[in-house]
Amino acid sequence: MNTMESILKYLALQFAGQSIHSHFETDLKRFDKYSISASQLFFDYSKQNLNVEVISTLVAWAGECQLSEQTNSMYSGVKINNTEKRAVLHTVLRAPANIQKQVLGEKLADEVAQTDARMIELVTALHAGELTGFTGKAFSDVIAIGIGGSYYGPKVCDEALKPYRQASVRVHYLANVDGITVTNKLQGLDPETTLVVVVSKTFVTQETMLNALAVKQWLLESGCSEGDLLGHFIAVTAASGIAEDFGIAKRNILPMWDWVGGRFSLWSAVGFPLACDIGMENFKLLREGAYEMDCHFVDAPFSENIPVLLALIGIWNRSFLGYESLAVLPYDHSLRYLPGYLQQLDMESNGKRVDINGEVLKLAAAPIVFGQEGTNGQHAFMQMMHQSHTTIPTEFLVPMQGHSKYTEHHKVLVANCFAQSEALMQGKTLQQAFQELIDGGMADDEAKALAPHKVMSGNVPSSTITFDKLTPKVMGSLMALYEHKIFVQGVMWNLNSFDQWGVELGKQLGSAVLSVFEGGDDSKLSASSQGLIKRFMDSE
Ligand code: F6P
Repeated sequence: MNTMESILKYLALQFAGQSIHSHFETDLKRFDKYSISASQLFFDYSKQNLNVEVISTLVAWAGECQLSEQTNSMYSGVKINNTEKRAVLHTVLRAPANIQKQVLGEKLADEVAQTDARMIELVTALHAGELTGFTGKAFSDVIAIGIGGSYYGPKVCDEALKPYRQASVRVHYLANVDGITVTNKLQGLDPETTLVVVVSKTFVTQETMLNALAVKQWLLESGCSEGDLLGHFIAVTAASGIAEDFGIAKRNILPMWDWVGGRFSLWSAVGFPLACDIGMENFKLLREGAYEMDCHFVDAPFSENIPVLLALIGIWNRSFLGYESLAVLPYDHSLRYLPGYLQQLDMESNGKRVDINGEVLKLAAAPIVFGQEGTNGQHAFMQMMHQSHTTIPTEFLVPMQGHSKYTEHHKVLVANCFAQSEALMQGKTLQQAFQELIDGGMADDEAKALAPHKVMSGNVPSSTITFDKLTPKVMGSLMALYEHKIFVQGVMWNLNSFDQWGVELGKQLGSAVLSVFEGGDDSKLSASSQGLIKRFMDSE
């Protein structure tokens, strides 16, 4: 443990018993001091359990961890994903052309530009009704098949940017390997007018391939010939050979590159289904917003840097104050897919047990991320957040203006958001609970019995991110904010945020179980799994 970590451990012991609310009583300017604006976002972290000393120690530690140097390494293409020997260059995809050339070199930058040009061509033709299916009718629907990083980013942005959707086409997503999702998706679609986009970096992901085959079969059964299939499929992949073997025309394959990780790939052609929905101009605005955040991240001093502060506060809560979870609560219905996206981004990236050298981590990394849109979450899990023994740090997100004409609804939504962060912090003492009941006219004995049930420990730390309106640019900025948060935390914990070896064992055993279904050997499986397999096979 280095000196900074020891100081932070010592500070955490002091802060564990402190009341966040009292920080406001001793510092009337706390809100101004612990909030910043950048890249169209406003970040209020005044309700966190920390002070200037904590922040400056975290910032100094970030300096010792060479955060700036590591950021430069990432931005310039050093292979910081050491276990897969890959560069991590998603940021370059949203940078201006001259930077792309500088970082990628002429040839790769050209490939990126050509991919963009092809996306524009396809999206324009699609919206103009010039892309047609096997009976000559224009495509009215796009079904995007992909999972994990090849799904979450476009899906979360697509829902968030509903007001920017183009009327000429509807986009649907198919991710899970569950027959009912295929049935449900295809039910509302006309095979003659459905364009299929298969998004898979590897083009071997079991779920995606099975879904792609099912949709191919649906087209064939609907009268589409093998030859006409070529016009119905587009692939986004780094494995063009496998996509061609699947039957996708070369001209319809949009490339991905090994220097862009799956869960960071929204900015590549993985965003193509989203671009089909919101149009290429809006997709570019999304990238612009992200680039604005990239510049802020690189240029602003750590103590005035939203992604750095968000990351450092997360580490303070997780590794030093010992809080195991993080609730992400967007008070914006259109951001309801954000918690799911962040679960992958955070937990698949930083849910690790060893550092980049394979040594077991000394500090706990990656919180358990969960969440739901407000106010729905208030009527579900927030009871626990207010009254259980578990303290769950929270990130609230809320737009100052909504997109709908129901301004009263928006007022109520915002009021609930602000009220929740206040309630989580303030809590309610036994004395307050008792007094409230007495003031309400309850008898003394009854009030004494009921009051303990109304106590809320409070002191739950939270941050609130606000923005004017959820536009494509703001959304881009938000997505980049979280990407950088995860990167910074990975640097501080000294782990590789860009691999995901933990997913592999499940995949291997998944194949092993499947082979048992086909009569293979089950002797290496436990009696429990053997029993479960038998139950399944007996039911067939
Ligand atoms: O969840 C594991 C994972 O490998 C992710 O990292 C990736 O985003 C996802 O599967 C899908 O992979 P692919 O794009 O290759 O289909």
